[in-house]
Amino acid sequence: MTHLLFDAAEHAKAADLSARFIADYLASVAGRPVFPAINREALRLLRDAPLPQTPVTLEALFAELNSVVVNNATHTAHPRFLPYVQPSPNGISPYAECVAATLNQNCNLWALSPSANAIEQCVIRWLANLVGADATSGLITSGGSAANLIGLTAARDHALGDTARSEGVQGRRSPLTLYASEEVHSSIDKAVAQLGLGVRHLRKLPTDERFQLRMDALRERVAQDRAQGCTPFCVVACAGTVTTGAVDPLAAIAAFCAEQELWMHVDGAYGALAAISARFSGPLQGIRHADSISLDPHKFLFTSFEAGGVLVKSRASLERSYQVMPSYLAKDSDPDFVNYSDLGPQLSRGFKALKIWWSLRYFGLPAYVAAVERMADLAQHMGRIASAHPGFELVAPVTFNAVCFRVAALDDEGNRRVLRRLVEGGRAFLGPANVKGRLAMRACFMNLRTAAADVESIMADILRLAHD
Ligand SMILES: Cc1ncc(COP(=O)(O)O)c(C=O)c1O
Repeated sequence: MTHLLFDAAEHAKAADLSARFIADYLASVAGRPVFPAINREALRLLRDAPLPQTPVTLEALFAELNSVVVNNATHTAHPRFLPYVQPSPNGISPYAECVAATLNQNCNLWALSPSANAIEQCVIRWLANLVGADATSGLITSGGSAANLIGLTAARDHALGDTARSEGVQGRRSPLTLYASEEVHSSIDKAVAQLGLGVRHLRKLPTDERFQLRMDALRERVAQDRAQGCTPFCVVACAGTVTTGAVDPLAAIAAFCAEQELWMHVDGAYGALAAISARFSGPLQGIRHADSISLDPHKFLFTSFEAGGVLVKSRASLERSYQVMPSYLAKDSDPDFVNYSDLGPQLSRGFKALKIWWSLRYFGLPAYVAAVERMADLAQHMGRIASAHPGFELVAPVTFNAVCFRVAALDDEGNRRVLRRLVEGGRAFLGPANVKGRLAMRACFMNLRTAAADVESIMADILRLAHD
């Protein structure tokens, strides 16, 4: 213990306590309040604790975990946890995390992680196959936000060309402009700001009644910008908008990008992996032409956080932005391996590919197809209730796994109050949504434990709270 390592007995005890914790917690989760009755005093004590000078036992650590951490956690695996775009992890992810931390491969230079390197390459190829992309390269990221940032970095540097590294965007006379629908995720705004492009140069364009980017608006704005001396360089297409799950007209956007010589980035963090189901693959087919695509295995592959990915048509496009060659990182190139630190911003990188690889290997693809379809079925079920019951108003068509609805008799403030009370009561967790300027409650089905009865009980709870 004094050497910070475990002996055999400690390993056995830690393995036993961890395995029991995982099984007991997951067995108990449905009986817990989704959102905890927070013990603020306990959390203050935890927050303000002094630096530890004396060791504690493993039993004490697990006891504290159960009494303070678990009891004050939001139970994302609870069957009625349905806010935002939040998965409940599949069964194998916690074990993959543990194994990845044990092997502790540094997935930057291939020589520090040869087998992990092969696995990451395999996972990237599988992800491209799953979404039907022509991508030949990419890397695993912390999530969709990081993937969007990397994709847009490649897009910006493609536009800047040879001076991307030395000059950046400084001193350009003609501002670079990019285009997306008004439904685009805020991670794109963040990326645009981080890249020094200025968020006002992200042109947010109107959508049609199905929340899809309007091609006429795109064409018009690009022409207008060119006429005014800007340099349009990229269109961000949504494969699953965050609020309603709408898919932009990808094939038309691809054709437009080809015609106008614009980079096509697809934010597929939410919806692109739905392409594994024939029910959803049709509108996603245009993804094939994208120059870069962001994905989130920690959404529809149900891995634990964090697991995102970015796919690109050309590996050179990432190397242009990220490859560096200081003497202390001298590395051999080898046709069988990829130096991942040349493809993204991180140097040290964990072995996130393992949990994606194991997730697909252990359960097999058909289990994921069934899960995606079951989530969509649950959304349809809730959508039908919201349409049929006069107490509700469905505010957007249910095209995927998200349902946006309101209590019909209440205004925005009333709906906000009901949503807050629903969450604080601990019986269910839904998120808010802004649908064409009106507040809605939003359920996003990405939870492997949710059943139709949960949907019915949530809707009954909402009506009761509205009535109260
Ligand atoms: C459409 C879309 N893009 C990007 C993101 C950001 O992904 P992450 O939370 O993994 O960074 C999300 C998250 O829900 C999303 O729905």
